[in-house]
Amino acid sequence: MSQETDALITEARAALLNSYAPYSEFRVGAALRTRSGKVYRGVNVENASLGLSICAERVAIFTAVAAGEKEFDAIAIVTRADSPTPPCGACRQVMLEFADELEIHLVVAGAPVETHTLTELVPRPFKSYRS
Ligand code: THU
Repeated sequence: MSQETDALITEARAALLNSYAPYSEFRVGAALRTRSGKVYRGVNVENASLGLSICAERVAIFTAVAAGEKEFDAIAIVTRADSPTPPCGACRQVMLEFADELEIHLVVAGAPVETHTLTELVPRPFKSYRS
């Protein structure tokens, strides 16, 4: 694994500690690397009104966009699940807005890192409502 990927995973692991998931108790940490080499963290943030909860991946992306970044190379997603957790459909759609070729690293303890591209996870994407 490259040093860059390793560093991204370290950031996602650190993010996981700040996950706010008192309802599902399913903690998720994400770290997103921009083309310019910056890293933005995200965590899932749940709410008593459950539908308002947001995934770690979207928090990372929206935080990066708010900071003026729109080009992304890779995201690492860390959970404590038994097997790697791929991003939900909503997060995949948000990723597509910014990066067709995003590298997605899925990380859990005790298993090799699983890496996918976004096109692999979304083979036939919705990209535009304009014809
Ligand atoms: N969750 C994420 O943060 N990312 C995903 O890709 C899947 C699910 C969060 C949302 C919710 O807080 C918890 O995991 C259980 O679904």
